[in-house]
Amino acid sequence: MDQKISFDIAKTDGRARTGVLKTPKGDIRTPAFMPVGTAATVKAMMPENVRATGADILLGNTYHLMLRPGAERIHNLGGLHRFMNWDRPILTDSGGYQVMSLTDLRKLTEEGVKFKSHIDGAEYNLTPERSMEIQRLLGSDIVMSFDECTPFPATEKQAKDSMDLSMRWAQRSRDAFGDRPGYALFGIQQGSTFKEMRAESADKLMNIGFDGYAVGGLAVGEGQELMFEVLDYAPEQLPKDKPRYLMGVGKPDDIVGAVQRGIDMFDCVLPSRSGRTGQAQTRMGAINLRNARHRDDPRPLDENCTCPTCQNYSRAYLHHVHRAGEIISSMLLTWHNLHYYQELMQGLRDAIAAEQLDAFVANFHAIRAVGDI
Ligand code: GUN
Ligand code: ZN
Repeated sequence: MDQKISFDIAKTDGRARTGVLKTPKGDIRTPAFMPVGTAATVKAMMPENVRATGADILLGNTYHLMLRPGAERIHNLGGLHRFMNWDRPILTDSGGYQVMSLTDLRKLTEEGVKFKSHIDGAEYNLTPERSMEIQRLLGSDIVMSFDECTPFPATEKQAKDSMDLSMRWAQRSRDAFGDRPGYALFGIQQGSTFKEMRAESADKLMNIGFDGYAVGGLAVGEGQELMFEVLDYAPEQLPKDKPRYLMGVGKPDDIVGAVQRGIDMFDCVLPSRSGRTGQAQTRMGAINLRNARHRDDPRPLDENCTCPTCQNYSRAYLHHVHRAGEIISSMLLTWHNLHYYQELMQGLRDAIAAEQLDAFVANFHAIRAVGDI
């Protein structure tokens, strides 16, 4: 087995790229969408069914797993892959972002973040060194460096102080990670919506040297227009020959626009979380199954979808099981949504390979403009 991680770009179309990120646990076809498996499960899905939707890699969370069931426990049980029965690549986020968004009691210092668990109030200390250790204990294939996701909006001074801290933490993450053949460490660019600051962050990360580079600090309330403005320069500030990962994005049209701007990897809770609240993501846009208009509708969510939900169940059934609070509602909608996301990624990869991305994107928007009828 090849013990190295490599990234091969097969084809480009404008700023967009398609290729393969090779790891010892399997190939990741890019542009890639990573379903979110925060607590060692993609909620409402069996791992083999997540794979059947076309996922090459999952995302896990340092923050949640360190609190429950604990990184050392997962390590003693054979690592996260064995624990959750997923033998393909796993990327883990480093924890800082989740601490800041999920806990009220926390203290950020040069050393790291001290916080109280949102589960039982127990005290923890998360530092770049401890985050690297936790991600190693989990057996994560792609480790994210420990950073601060700069809140939006930020003044230039706030953004600069935050970015500088993240870059010092990036160096400490690199030092603590060490040399681990077969495992990758990604750096995370910050700098809010300031072009020069993003460039400075990219330069600092490239000097340290990472296996891949994430664009962080976006999808934090700035809106699509401003996010695309940043993505018009941020990806090009990062190395051409390494994977670029846009963290926490996004809606289907966010992903399409980001791929056009040179992003290779994505993660988002939207397809799984919205499935559990009765929303279907489709070619025509989002469909809310709670709506009474679906009560007597014998049609599937999408006549053209090949997922098991659309092959076997009507909108009327999905409306009924959602209204009745049946568990199968979450299962069927999550399956469809993840299938739709993976089909979208395959469509993007094929379009880039054929140098037909503009036509693909025009068709994507045309179908959504008609909407669900
Ligand atoms: N998830 C979404 N945005 C971010 C970010 O800026 N940093 C990290 N670590 N995770 C994220
Ligand atoms: Zn479907």
